[in-house]
Amino acid sequence: MNVLLINGSPKKNGCTFTALSEVAGNLEKHGISTEIFHIGTRPISGCIACGKCASTGLCIMKDDPVNDCIERLKNADGLIVGSPVYYAAPNASVCALLDRVFYYKSAPYRLKPAAAVVSCRRGGASAAFDRLNKYFTIAQMPVVASSYWNSVHGNTPEETRQDAEGLQVMRTLGDNMAWLLKSIAAANIPKPEQETKIWTNFIR
Ligand SMILES: Cc1cc2nc3c(=O)[nH]c(=O)nc-3n(C[C@H](O)[C@H](O)[C@H](O)COP(=O)(O)O)c2cc1C
Repeated sequence: MNVLLINGSPKKNGCTFTALSEVAGNLEKHGISTEIFHIGTRPISGCIACGKCASTGLCIMKDDPVNDCIERLKNADGLIVGSPVYYAAPNASVCALLDRVFYYKSAPYRLKPAAAVVSCRRGGASAAFDRLNKYFTIAQMPVVASSYWNSVHGNTPEETRQDAEGLQVMRTLGDNMAWLLKSIAAANIPKPEQETKIWTNFIR
């Protein structure tokens, strides 16, 4: 079993990485492999709503990490998305990446457990956390919970490491995701059949 952890910060080894590493440590403790995937610092375009991905399963824009991320997520059993908080929201790059990873492409991720982790200096963590959870809940991905909403506080990795409660929340998240992944594997229950999707842009 393996979990993909996306580091959406421009800082490869910053506060978000520090939080994700704490989650990954406890996943590994339970025998789950982990990969922390850094989205880098180069521009990531927003979705251009061309809809081509509906037939290919991939994005037509190939010069950034989006398609790589899609392939990794298809091969993963679980997902953790980490983002720094920018103006009480996930940062722009991670939103651009996730819009394109999820739009018309989420069927292969269905019922894979997922969770968001956010890092802030002082405020806006809950709003950013809620925004990230929207990707999972529209894609039928069970959201793994911890002992608080998943945030750490700090402006540097050193400060983040002083957030004892935040780090405990991360470790508990790792424990809970490992438990859920193992429970799903042990139960081996087929996925529920899906109804044909109903689209209503307006109530008529
Ligand atoms: C453009 C920008 C906006 C930010 N907005 C917020 C904010 O709204 N609330 C907050 O507490 N911290 C804010 N911060 C600070 C970062 O969220 C915080 O330092 C975070 O832990 C950095 O994580 P990283 O090291 O993984 O990038 C902002 C930082 C930047 C660069």
